[in-house]
Amino acid sequence: MKIFIDTANLAEIREAHSWGVIDGVTTNPSLIAKEGRDFIATIHEICELVDGPVSAEVIAQDAPKMVQEGRLLAQVHKNVVVKIPLTFEGLKACSILTKEGIRTNVTLCFQASQALLAAKAGATYISPFIGRLDDLGIDGMDLIRSIVTIYKNDPTLKTQVLAASIRDPLHVVQSAEAGSHVATIPFKVLKQMGVHPLTDKGNAQFLADWQTAPDTDIIGQTSRWLAGRK
Ligand code: G3P
Repeated sequence: MKIFIDTANLAEIREAHSWGVIDGVTTNPSLIAKEGRDFIATIHEICELVDGPVSAEVIAQDAPKMVQEGRLLAQVHKNVVVKIPLTFEGLKACSILTKEGIRTNVTLCFQASQALLAAKAGATYISPFIGRLDDLGIDGMDLIRSIVTIYKNDPTLKTQVLAASIRDPLHVVQSAEAGSHVATIPFKVLKQMGVHPLTDKGNAQFLADWQTAPDTDIIGQTSRWLAGRK
């Protein structure tokens, strides 16, 4: 499963990217507005930072204007994927942009039937929102499982499932188990994914025990040993 970071914050993207784990980035109007910076400059900077799909969302609500915005956004950088809301106008725009070779991420998906329509319209990615369903007491993972099954049952559907609105590491693990192609993850959750108290405890114990070894300098010891073999 690919890992995208769900943020428009450059410092977060830079940090997570330095771990070598980021395949792409998703943004939305709320995340962009939160940064208080110019939309297009931000998207371009993200694209220069991460050589993978970077979702930039249209604001228009009617298909012709969505297409116009999408065409322009796609010219900002080769990495841009045009994000479109899952409305009938959005589906129309998706199918037009797809025919022009522009990649799309159809977002705000809350039921499997919507995902089927998005795939028929040629979406590159479908974004089901797990956390927002969980908030309503509906199991968001059921939606991921259902969409994965529907897409697998029809090999003509090429749309990738992009699990979104992820709230914790379990969402990520369960998305991967369910066969989601991508999960887009907030920085906070990415950090939670990489830590465990037993890792820290074990590491501290190894370091303490190492101090009792006769020679604790690995670089010096190894360099001498390697030089001695020449
Ligand atoms: O980017 C779309 C999605 O991941 C938003 O998540 O936490 O606002 O429900 P959230």
